[in-house]
Amino acid sequence: MPVQRIERALSIGSMGAGALLAALAFSCAAPAAPPQATTGPTLEEGRSATAVPQLAPPPTLTAGSATAVQAPLTQAPPPAPAAPVTSIPATPNAPLVSFPLGTATPSEQCGFCHVSIYREYATGFGADLEYKGMIANSLQDPVLALPADHPVTQTAHAYAGVDPWPIVARQLEEGGKACNVCHYPQPFEHPAFNVESIPKPQPRDASQEAVGVTCASCHLTPDGKIRGPFDVSATAPHATVQDPGMQTSTACALCHSMGPRVIGKQTQTFLEWREDFNKPGLGPQQCQDCHMPRTERKLADTYDVPLRAVARHLWTGSHSTQRLASALHLAITRPRATQPALELHVMNVGAGHSVPTGSNRRAVYLKADVVDGSGAVVATQQWMFAPNFGDRPDDNAFVEDDKTGPEPVAATQADAQGPHEAPVRAGEDRALTWTPALTSGTYTVEATLIYDLNRYNDRAFTDDQTEIGSASLSVSIR
Ligand code: HEC
Ligand code: HEC
Ligand code: HEC
Ligand code: HEC
Ligand code: HEC
Repeated sequence: MPVQRIERALSIGSMGAGALLAALAFSCAAPAAPPQATTGPTLEEGRSATAVPQLAPPPTLTAGSATAVQAPLTQAPPPAPAAPVTSIPATPNAPLVSFPLGTATPSEQCGFCHVSIYREYATGFGADLEYKGMIANSLQDPVLALPADHPVTQTAHAYAGVDPWPIVARQLEEGGKACNVCHYPQPFEHPAFNVESIPKPQPRDASQEAVGVTCASCHLTPDGKIRGPFDVSATAPHATVQDPGMQTSTACALCHSMGPRVIGKQTQTFLEWREDFNKPGLGPQQCQDCHMPRTERKLADTYDVPLRAVARHLWTGSHSTQRLASALHLAITRPRATQPALELHVMNVGAGHSVPTGSNRRAVYLKADVVDGSGAVVATQQWMFAPNFGDRPDDNAFVEDDKTGPEPVAATQADAQGPHEAPVRAGEDRALTWTPALTSGTYTVEATLIYDLNRYNDRAFTDDQTEIGSASLSVSIR
């Protein structure tokens, strides 16, 4: 393990503690929260025999870890919570905790009790997540980075409200129009599994965007209850509703798809999963099975509640090298031993949807070189796999029309790149043929797959690129 990695692992741990302690601090100090976290006698009465709220910080956060907790706090204070938990039920009839800010409820409020889940969401603890600084277009553009109080190891849901790239893109591409409604939505119902067209969620008010995709974004129902897969009505200090749909892909559909199924288009992840993976029976996995693997623990760490199978709140995707590397397999073949014709196969073996999926900005490049005995590259070829911006393939023939269309900047940048390979669908084996011009001799074909978070910025900017696979084949031409 390189030194850098170890340091980061350490800082993740202590950052988590810092953030959590701050969450506790705000809750204890909050005037509207009646019980004092550690002293309130009402708390000891408990709500029922099975629910004994103990709001003291968990042992690992108390004496002994003071320095570990303090240090990261000065460098990186967690986002300031906007409002306190309104009440903690101390008797069976006490009012339940409620969340008047709706989906703008800061996640720290939930993290006060759901300590381990919050740590995953807010620090990426348990995954190899890494936010990559981004530039919009040219190398002269400023590098867009997360605010200092957001660790680069955080989950994308946790930084969604401050991720500078969507904010800048909205300005550059849409003239400031509130297009990215899925980044800051109000509470919604899940769509039916088979709905033909996925509707857009309603956006929050612009002043409430910064908290991003919060715990409440996924868990709060339009009537103010917290949904989850279990029946916890006897133990939870807030209104809950048992919803088996939370363990299915429909829980992700509204933000991870838009409109009807259009093969090859952007913003289709749920529909790709439903039509290409689930319906043909390629696997039993829902989104959660791959993106929220479970472990056995308590839902609310300091409560006297049973162990349950709890989903890790990490959602590794294109900011995880481990996840990216598991998506595709690359192989090179030469169908006829005497001919230079090559076949390169890009197989989607690990994703329950197309790769790349989601935003049209994403791309996978396949780069192939033929290298001779002296190490010189004698032939080279490249392909780009990417979601189309709109309902038809990106094509530079449309650039002039785009300029007068409804989304001139975004449509133009997509079409200007010209035709490219469609994303590799779930389970697909995409075969690409290439016949390099070679004289007789012995060569090595070397192929590499590279994932690019932003296909529209200068290719020389490689901070947003990750090598995700390679293959080689030696060929001799007579
Ligand atoms: C004061 C402590 C506390 C706060 C604050 C709190 N919870 Fe809970 N929550 C609990 C407890 C206790 C349970 C029940 C645990 C059990 O029985 O395993 C629970 C249960 C849950 C469940 C499981 C529901 C189910 O039906 O499966 C979810 C989801 C949940 N909470 C989400 C949240 C979210 C989101 C927030 C913030 C908006 C939040 N909680 C705030 C203590 C809290
Ligand atoms: C409330 C809307 C919303 C819901 C519901 C939602 N997501 Fe997301 N998700 C987002 C947004 C917005 C981003 C991107 C944030 C950013 O990069 O700034 C994202 C990012 C992700 C990423 C990381 C992508 C990357 O670039 O690394 C994964 C993986 C993911 N979501 C999976 C899921 C899964 C699985 C579910 C269902 C359990 C789900 N999401 C539910 C809005 C949502
Ligand atoms: C069989 C496992 C599997 C299932 C099921 C699955 N995914 Fe993924 N997902 C992956 C892999 C592997 C990647 C990495 C490839 C990539 O980023 O394109 C990925 C990447 C992603 C990304 C990152 C895209 C980006 O642009 O950053 C998102 C978002 C995502 N998945 C959402 C979902 C949603 C929503 C579902 C359910 C509708 C789902 N996934 C189902 C394995 C899976
Ligand atoms: C992007 C959507 C999303 C966000 C954001 C989110 N959750 Fe969840 N959560 C889910 C889903 C989906 C499940 C059900 C997972 C499963 O069991 O398959 C779940 C399950 C839970 C459960 C029940 C345990 C379990 O695994 O079933 C609790 C408690 C919980 N979440 C609390 C939180 C808290 C606290 C936060 C914020 C720190 C949070 N969640 C943020 C989607 C989300
Ligand atoms: C249907 C919901 C939805 C809408 C509408 C939407 N987005 Fe997104 N956006 C997402 C999700 C989910 C992701 C996460 C990555 C993915 O799926 O590829 C994302 C990712 C992004 C990213 C890349 C951030 C990263 O993770 O690196 C940018 C930039 C972005 N969106 C900008 C916009 C802009 C600008 C608009 C308005 C034109 C918009 N989005 C509209 C759901 C949406």
